[in-house]
Amino acid sequence: MHDLSGHAPGPPPSFEQAKNRRQKARSAGLDPNHWYAVEQSKRIHKGDKVEVKFLGRSMAVFRGDDGRLRAIENRCAHRNLKLTEGKVVGCELVCPYHGWSYDGEGRATITHDLFGHKSPNIRIASVPVRERYGLVFLFPGDPELATTRDIPMIPELEGPKPWPHVIVQFECPGHHSMLLENVSDFTHGFLHRKYQPFYGTEVLRCEDMGDRIEVEYKSKIAAGRFQNMFINRSESDCDHMLACYDYPYHWSNTDNRIKHFLFTLPQDDNHNRHMFIFYVRPDTIRLPLIGARLPHWLVDRMMKAQRFITLEPLLGQDVWVIEREQAGWEKFWDRPAPELSPVVRAFQDLTIRKWESYLASRNAAAGEASCGNVIAAKELVR
Ligand code: FES
Ligand SMILES: [Fe+2]
Repeated sequence: MHDLSGHAPGPPPSFEQAKNRRQKARSAGLDPNHWYAVEQSKRIHKGDKVEVKFLGRSMAVFRGDDGRLRAIENRCAHRNLKLTEGKVVGCELVCPYHGWSYDGEGRATITHDLFGHKSPNIRIASVPVRERYGLVFLFPGDPELATTRDIPMIPELEGPKPWPHVIVQFECPGHHSMLLENVSDFTHGFLHRKYQPFYGTEVLRCEDMGDRIEVEYKSKIAAGRFQNMFINRSESDCDHMLACYDYPYHWSNTDNRIKHFLFTLPQDDNHNRHMFIFYVRPDTIRLPLIGARLPHWLVDRMMKAQRFITLEPLLGQDVWVIEREQAGWEKFWDRPAPELSPVVRAFQDLTIRKWESYLASRNAAAGEASCGNVIAAKELVR
């Protein structure tokens, strides 16, 4: 029963309580058994440590003196302090309270008096970590599966001369499904009418292929006045885009010239970090009026500059609108959920079925799981 405010009676439903597609999509998590981009490599220097959350689970990522990254559970086994409150010494992360020191495998070394005990075998969980394309990736799920799944291949960014590219990272206060729907749904061009990143959109194909949804659009990309001046449309008009929700990633390819990858990190129920990599074939950018090609290094600089000129302001509009969508969702989640876009519906269905399948596998494994992830000498934990 609604009161005079018209607000729903209580908070949005859990995944188990959800009654329709939108309610399920808004309460689903993302399967932790994939590699998730959590930060840019250049932001974690030697001796730095950062807290990373995945669906509420806190992890400590730190870079040792040797330059290598490590990631462990962000909880001291002794009194449960966050290890990111401590500091990196050598290649270990040291808790600020009694100085227990953790290596990259989560093994603790105790340097204070042991009161006659032999050095106990204490270990917290470690988290697989890798770096690629200037990003730090964690595998927050079952570590044994980390070697069976790979970080997506982006051949254009490999090798000594990668395509000119730029990384745009931002925090978004809304459920992760909202941004994924946003990038799939070109009808929201209205929001971006000042920048016109896409114009005149038509969905040519939307195909459910199991763990991925492929969508073909006819849409003029980078149609804004400023960007349009620099786009070389002599070979192709950059108006045919293949976009894909390649669970849990999103990417697009416009005429093999303008591409992007989107990595989403669901930090908790309604707070997410997103990392876009935009990259272009070098001959896609030209000198306005003259039409001359530009050197690779200059195109790369121009891409980096685009971050400030168009990409961050543009994506800032999406963050702004999603924060408001989240606020509306929390008040009116029980209202009917009209959705015209077949792409949005397909994206929601994939998110829902992957989360259902993750929950089913987790429940099946629960019976066999060993308890906890601290291996401690028994006499110390009685
Ligand atoms: S609480 Fe971390 S060492 Fe004691
Ligand atoms: Fe947008």
